[in-house]
Amino acid sequence: MSCLEVNQVSKEFYRNNGKTRETIAAVDGVSFELHEGESLGIIGTSGSGKTTLLKLILGLLKPDKGMVSRSESLGFVGQDPYSSLCPTMSVEKAVAEPLIFLKRKKRFRDCLNDVDEVLSFVNLSRSVYGKRLPQELSGGERQRVGIARALIIKPTLLLLDEPTSMLDQEVKSEIAAVINKISKQKQTAFLMVTHDVLLATQICDRIMVMSKGKIIEENSAAEIFENPQKAVTQDLVNINTNIRTYWEKHFLADTNKPISTTKF
Ligand SMILES: Nc1ncnc2c1ncn2[C@@H]1O[C@H](COP(=O)(O)OP(=O)(O)OP(=O)(O)O)[C@@H](O)[C@H]1O
Ligand SMILES: [Mg+2]
Repeated sequence: MSCLEVNQVSKEFYRNNGKTRETIAAVDGVSFELHEGESLGIIGTSGSGKTTLLKLILGLLKPDKGMVSRSESLGFVGQDPYSSLCPTMSVEKAVAEPLIFLKRKKRFRDCLNDVDEVLSFVNLSRSVYGKRLPQELSGGERQRVGIARALIIKPTLLLLDEPTSMLDQEVKSEIAAVINKISKQKQTAFLMVTHDVLLATQICDRIMVMSKGKIIEENSAAEIFENPQKAVTQDLVNINTNIRTYWEKHFLADTNKPISTTKF
């Protein structure tokens, strides 16, 4: 069954360049479908329209043309773990909040079993982290709290916008492992926007490539990585492969350590 349908969706922005007004086709006639339990990665260069597409799916922007139909049960994890949590709310309260907000539970104490379950899913225990404030957490821990908040309502669809891009290399692997676990459980479909082609190819079933607002290529993760068809896709794969080779050559040659983002 489908939990997301994007049908011929377009969104333009206008930018004033002195006397003239420039039109930017941020998302241009995009269509795709996501089925229950499926994981879809969206990769693309900066400015290709990925975040705009997520905003259209979330309903934060209205499409100029086309239609989005999606499951009501939706979770979202953003890029920035430093600004996504309320600074005065403890971890356990922040994680319980969506359940209370959606009126699935009335009081905080009714949520404790769910909070325990979802925190342990992201490898945090309530006894250690429950009472802490965001400022007492590392970036990776904050991002795991953000994922727990998104998962507590047991969404059928999870949207992730560059969930590892603001984290250090080592911490990225923690988050990648949690996302991989979500993917393997097949209970929540997810759509993940990322610059990290290696991460996307290891976690997602299917990958779409965006360029200038359009989907220019779509294939299984293995095919995108092994056999990219379009020049943009080839560049994205090469950049990621080169980063890996560079790291292996200059930093990891002596230790022979694998790059953590790609190993789970
Ligand atoms: N609110 C806005 N007003 C005007 N232009 C915008 C607005 N939001 C996005 N744009 C433009 O739309 C295009 C797509 O932006 P978007 O943020 O979707 O790209 P992206 O693929 O997410 O890039 P990145 O990888 O850098 O996050 C860009 O040219 C951007 O400058
Ligand atoms: Mg973006």
